Amino acid sequence: MQYENILVETNGKVGLIRLNRPKALNALNDQLMDELGDAMLKFDADENIGCIVITGSEKAFAAGADIGAMANYTYMDAFKGDYITRNWEQIRHVRKPVIAAVAGYALGGGCELAMMCDFIIAADSAKFGQPEIKLGTMPGAGGTQRLPRAVSKSKAMDMCLTARMMDAAEAERAGLVSRIVPADKLLDEALAAAATIAAMSLPVVMMVKESINRAYESTLAEGVQYERRMFHSTFATEDQKEGMKAFVDKRLPIFRNL
Ligand code: CAA
Repeated sequence: MQYENILVETNGKVGLIRLNRPKALNALNDQLMDELGDAMLKFDADENIGCIVITGSEKAFAAGADIGAMANYTYMDAFKGDYITRNWEQIRHVRKPVIAAVAGYALGGGCELAMMCDFIIAADSAKFGQPEIKLGTMPGAGGTQRLPRAVSKSKAMDMCLTARMMDAAEAERAGLVSRIVPADKLLDEALAAAATIAAMSLPVVMMVKESINRAYESTLAEGVQYERRMFHSTFATEDQKEGMKAFVDKRLPIFRNL
């Protein structure tokens, strides 16, 4: 697939995807999301890649779904075509970790896209919001579901109903982002975090990701049981033998993803 709305590169074992519609503040149209899904699945299948980073520009991670593209949709257009967010959950099928590196606006679908990633590293310039209500619509790519899980019901209601934005400091306090870094260090920090992850045992990294995601999709008792079984299964890997032996031998482990 030829990409026109994203830029894709590799940095060691890290796959980097930049959203690239600068004139529209990276507004997310179907074409961009098809390209993003395609690039992510390719990185997921590439055995030389251990972690993926998605970023935008200094001004905007993404300012939402493309308003111009959907302004004239009727209900039947949207429903029958399953338009606007049909291809977004593709990202959830990626088994390797995905980091969102967010500077500037992450609004509407942009905030939802960041929340679909496994964690968010925010520049101090980041601004998060679900302002769809100002357009007479509502979040359509998981915002009303993921935001309350991330920041509490009260803050999610506040943001989705008043359309106010949350700055990086508030987003970190609320638990939406894992860390804040100076804007000019954002990409370096995100790539360094991704490189750290990519140096771990890939099968164990994937087990950790699956287990943490279970926390959102099951009861605590089921999640704990699932985690225990995953933990047991790490003992079937050569990387667990190597990791623990290296600790005992007081040296760094060499993981072979086996
Ligand atoms: N869709 C399409 N185009 C967009 C866009 C969007 N979501 N956001 C910004 N743009 C375009 C603007 O139309 C403008 O284009 P022109 O230069 O051709 O006029 C360009 O990007 C720059 O934007 P502004 O001039 O508005 O820049 P600003 O700095 O004054 O304001 C902003 C920045 C506050 C982010 C403002 O652009 C804005 O409010 N954007 C819309 C945010 C929004 O409502 N997002 C939710 C979309 S709906 C959604 O996402 C549904 C869902 O859940 C899936």
